[in-house]
Amino acid sequence: MTQHLAAPATATTSGHRAEPAPWWRDAVIYQVYPRSFADGNGDGMGDLAGIRSRLPYLKELGVDAVWLSPFYASPQADAGYDVADYRAIDPMFGTLHDADALIRSAHALDLRIIVDLVPNHCSDQHDWFRQALREGPGSRLRERFHFRPGKGADGELPPNDWESIFGGPAWTRTANPDGTPGEWYLHLFAPEQPDFNWEHPAVQDEFRSILRFWLDLGADGFRVDVAHGLVKAPGLPDIGSGDQLKLLGNDVMPFFDQDGVHEIYRSWRRILDEYEGERVLVAEAWTPTVERTALYVRPDEMHQAFNFQYLTTNWDEKELREVIDGSLAAMRPVGAPTTWVLSNHDVTRHATRFGNPPGLGTQLREQGDRELGLRRARAATLLMLALPGSAYVYQGEELGLPDVTDLPDEVRQDPSFFRAEGQDGFRDGCRVPIPWTREGSSYGFGSGGSWLPQPAEWAELSVEAQTGVAGSTLELYRAALAARREHPGLGAGEAVTWLDAPDGVLALSREGFVCTTNTTGAPVRLPAPGALLLASAPVAVNDGFAVLPADATAWWTV
Ligand code: NOJ
Repeated sequence: MTQHLAAPATATTSGHRAEPAPWWRDAVIYQVYPRSFADGNGDGMGDLAGIRSRLPYLKELGVDAVWLSPFYASPQADAGYDVADYRAIDPMFGTLHDADALIRSAHALDLRIIVDLVPNHCSDQHDWFRQALREGPGSRLRERFHFRPGKGADGELPPNDWESIFGGPAWTRTANPDGTPGEWYLHLFAPEQPDFNWEHPAVQDEFRSILRFWLDLGADGFRVDVAHGLVKAPGLPDIGSGDQLKLLGNDVMPFFDQDGVHEIYRSWRRILDEYEGERVLVAEAWTPTVERTALYVRPDEMHQAFNFQYLTTNWDEKELREVIDGSLAAMRPVGAPTTWVLSNHDVTRHATRFGNPPGLGTQLREQGDRELGLRRARAATLLMLALPGSAYVYQGEELGLPDVTDLPDEVRQDPSFFRAEGQDGFRDGCRVPIPWTREGSSYGFGSGGSWLPQPAEWAELSVEAQTGVAGSTLELYRAALAARREHPGLGAGEAVTWLDAPDGVLALSREGFVCTTNTTGAPVRLPAPGALLLASAPVAVNDGFAVLPADATAWWTV
């Protein structure tokens, strides 16, 4: 077991030194997408050795922890979210020895490591599923999944009307061991991702054991994939249409956000609490409301839940203020911090979302206005980092990377792109490997090219091109994260106070600190709230007044 990190001393909202707050309450956590971060062995695919070699960069950036998307043994039908062996590393990423070395090296730098846990489904190549198929209908081994006979005279219709999130039916028909058409199995995602039956004790035991395996190896926590999906409504009822759908509400589905999931997380929390060092559970739970999200972070459940309502909010003063207030209010009764996020490996990067017209969702195929998008993205990031709670940064956003919206279809790998016949599922655009240097094979990603093509203009967005350049997005992130460490009021606490501000401007005050965000497309003049600390664009201050440029955020100490 690797040595664990001590919690740093922090200050309360009233500024008094107090019992150290748990590290995760205001942590900035950096998401690494292993296939696209750094390639250590030159095969064009990122790996654990590559990540380890870049830990000093993450330390210098100023993050507290690193979340790694899946690196487990997997046929890669969904980029590793189809796990064949939860206790093994896929050879393309390295070995268990590499994982151990990565965790140890991170800890030596005071960086924590959060691993991805995928409990809703496994790979169709997982031993349990292969055995279940081999044994045929009626086998007890099938009870670990959702196998059902089909409807219709010959069982030729799926057992219910559920659709896969990736498009098409959520059921696939199997062949019996003798080759005749057999039962169907449930997969909320791709057919290569059969859903576990979480009513089954063996499934519950197995995941408790998997948790211990990674905790024993030193993992500081788990990001829990599809945390809202494990429990399905009894009897797997049809969703139906018309009146029935209205009754369920647009976002309430019999396979998502069922109350039964919470008991699972309570049992996991008890396991984590046995370990030293405040290990954490982070919910990826897409729920209809922030109030439903708050249920995942009650004191005996998970620690954090991504705030996807914030991620999907348009660049609009009123909408932003509403979602910030709503999120803080929803979390307050459960005592959890809000967990802010703007980008991840499933959504169009925020630098591109904000350059497109509002309301288009998170799977965009248009570049939009690049300059506008970057300007707003930088402002949005500073606003996010000024809010109380924890924040996640997705690899490459610190470089201001846009989404690559014009990838040729033949290089795409996102399974949802293919299941949606090219009309959706543009997630490869945010998964293009990171440019580290101006020149060289794959801009320093590795010595052997890159599994997705990188745009030529990324040379000038590389880490090398931005390092030490005043005003670069990378230096902005570095300065913001350094300021967050120097000013304990940032990130801590649970509330913001809104100050009067001109239309289109958000002005929020925290202890000793004010954040002003101009969401309009024109400069705004306002009384300078204090001494300028940092800004996403040049701010002119004269005679006690400041001119905040269009789409910009400024931080002030008061
Ligand atoms: C959410 C993950 O973030 C996404 O990448 C994956 O495709 C689905 N869950 C299914 O595991």
